[in-house]
Amino acid sequence: MSTPHNNAEKGDIAKTVIMPGDPLRAKFIAENYLENPVCYNEVRGMYGYTGVYKGKRISVQGSGMGMPSMAIYSWELFSEYDVDNIIRTGTAGAISDNVSLRDIIIAMSASTNSAYASQYNLPGTYAPTASWELLSQAVKVTENKGVNFHVGNIFSSDTFYDDAGSLAQWQKMGVLGIEMETAALYMNASRAGKNALCILTVSDCPLKNLSTTAEERQSGFRNMMEIALETAVSI
Ligand code: HPA
Repeated sequence: MSTPHNNAEKGDIAKTVIMPGDPLRAKFIAENYLENPVCYNEVRGMYGYTGVYKGKRISVQGSGMGMPSMAIYSWELFSEYDVDNIIRTGTAGAISDNVSLRDIIIAMSASTNSAYASQYNLPGTYAPTASWELLSQAVKVTENKGVNFHVGNIFSSDTFYDDAGSLAQWQKMGVLGIEMETAALYMNASRAGKNALCILTVSDCPLKNLSTTAEERQSGFRNMMEIALETAVSI
């Protein structure tokens, strides 16, 4: 079998998948952290690999940028490939004043301006939420790592270059940071009865015009990657 977007055969993909937005990050993780990585997908350059980390079979696959892309890949992983757990790793812009460059954000929930939830015909506003099992494990792992981290609500936006400049309003509601994928991932996981979590590294502060260097993003990325891998082996 395969899907329009994924060449993998059933069974090629592990029960737990780590999903960076950038497929080249997926390749980097596979080559630097997994034993015996095997590439199962190259369609559209959205690399997917399965290998072994600390004795456990783990997959790592790119999601692409934005909710439609994340939604396609995560839907197929949950519904066509029997994946149980997806851990997104990505970057975020800080919104809260308490969040600094290079901090880690673990997304308990994801507010959004996306219309993704409209497909469910709910008579109200849905609250996309992380899996408690993954969230609680990730918090334990992150505490042991001794890095600055925050757990709370993030904002999944449909726009990177935004004309409305509404971040100050989200800030008033205690939102920690902005990214572009998590709300759709959490909705897909809930709909499929599966588990999802998003772990982010703060790469920029849009309200203060600050950003990290490429080198800083690389080392921050390593912390986040290790948190995701340790969480994956602990469940
Ligand atoms: N906006 C949206 N997504 C992001 C940002 C941002 O400022 N930084 C990292 N991902």
